[in-house]
Amino acid sequence: MTRTRIAVIGLGQRIAHVLRAMEDVEWDYEIAGYADPAPVGASILAERNIATGRAYADVTALLKDGPYDLVMIGSPNHLHYEHLLAAFEAGHPIFAEKPIVRTEEETLALARHLADVKTPPLHIGLVMRSMPIVRETIARVDAGQLGRIISMDATEHLHPEHGGYLARNWRRKQEWGGSYFLDKVCHDFDIFGRLMGARPKRVASFGGKKLFGPEFDKGPRHYSDGEEAYALRDAGWAGANDAFHSDMDVTDHQTAIVEYESGAQLSFHSNTHVSLLERRWYIAGSEGTLVADLVRNKLLYRGAFDRKKPEKMEWGGLTADLHNGADQAMAADLKKALDGEAPFPVTPQDSMVAGLTVMAIDKAMETGSVIDCAPMWAAYDKARQ
Ligand SMILES: NC(=O)c1ccc[n+]([C@@H]2O[C@H](COP(=O)([O-])OP(=O)(O)OC[C@H]3O[C@@H](n4cnc5c(N)ncnc54)[C@H](O)[C@@H]3O)[C@@H](O)[C@H]2O)c1
Repeated sequence: MTRTRIAVIGLGQRIAHVLRAMEDVEWDYEIAGYADPAPVGASILAERNIATGRAYADVTALLKDGPYDLVMIGSPNHLHYEHLLAAFEAGHPIFAEKPIVRTEEETLALARHLADVKTPPLHIGLVMRSMPIVRETIARVDAGQLGRIISMDATEHLHPEHGGYLARNWRRKQEWGGSYFLDKVCHDFDIFGRLMGARPKRVASFGGKKLFGPEFDKGPRHYSDGEEAYALRDAGWAGANDAFHSDMDVTDHQTAIVEYESGAQLSFHSNTHVSLLERRWYIAGSEGTLVADLVRNKLLYRGAFDRKKPEKMEWGGLTADLHNGADQAMAADLKKALDGEAPFPVTPQDSMVAGLTVMAIDKAMETGSVIDCAPMWAAYDKARQ
């Protein structure tokens, strides 16, 4: 492919980091222009001297100035559906950030649209699909090394600074982000579904707000080295100044249990204010056990009857954002997909299933009930026909 001409809708922190990762994998591109009322990611690109191109007044003006080789969508989640429709209409290949859309209604409408209308290629930034440790885990499960997956537990625990950012950024509001789980762990539930080879049958969940809120404000907080807490990151578009007084209406900790259609079970535990970071999957199969430690980028496996030491794999390449090289791997996958060399590792359909899974979990939490997912999958499958 020759130099890639890119249009960006929502030039925020995420798209800026993806563009930097594209440069890291020596992708030859130029940003022709962007539509964003206050591009939070511009300074992240400026650190690398990556020019942002022309600032357009809105998405329509930007897309009118095509053709583009790639339209990248990195707007807040509530705008994804509208921006996807505009990009479909323009007809250029699309990379859009996860979650693919924000609500069940939007998911069904998008599924119908994808079934009815010929759309340009669409790739969703479920970046964990590109991580070498995740690929290895999937390959071992697919090869039958673990036997039948019986049960699994998984975690994602975030540093207080990360939690404080979520409490101040647009993700704090359901109307913009959807939910804490939808914005943060749709990645994980995408992989869980892939590992289980099945959709969720029943889900339950508990969660709440017990970390960030006025009643938990104990005044200024400092780390043991004197640095001020909850103050490090620009809260960006529609941001709030204070993590404890920010009208946040999403959870700051949540647990979920899922029974898959295969009969396999999963428990998931997540918290946004921990001092020992963790994103770990413990997968128990009939023939073997695998632990994937995504923070340390290490995998452990032992067969059920092995007497020898567990097999260990380690990838290294740890980065402060804990993406551990995943962004570069995804950039390489995206280039291969656009060049027609290999399919992108995740489809829009996978992304919709992951989103619906998390939406069902949130519904279970809100209603205090076990949700039978069958009607939701029936509606989704009908929309796809
Ligand atoms: N894959 C990942 O690991 C990952 C990580 C972080 C964020 N994300 C996703 O990326 C997306 C952006 O998140 P972020 O962290 O970059 O947020 P951000 O706040 O840094 O960026 C969002 C940008 O959208 C812009 N925007 C707001 N309204 C707009 C409009 N009407 N038209 C165009 N642009 C508009 C904002 O001004 C801002 O620059 C979200 O969907 C998020 O879930 C994915």
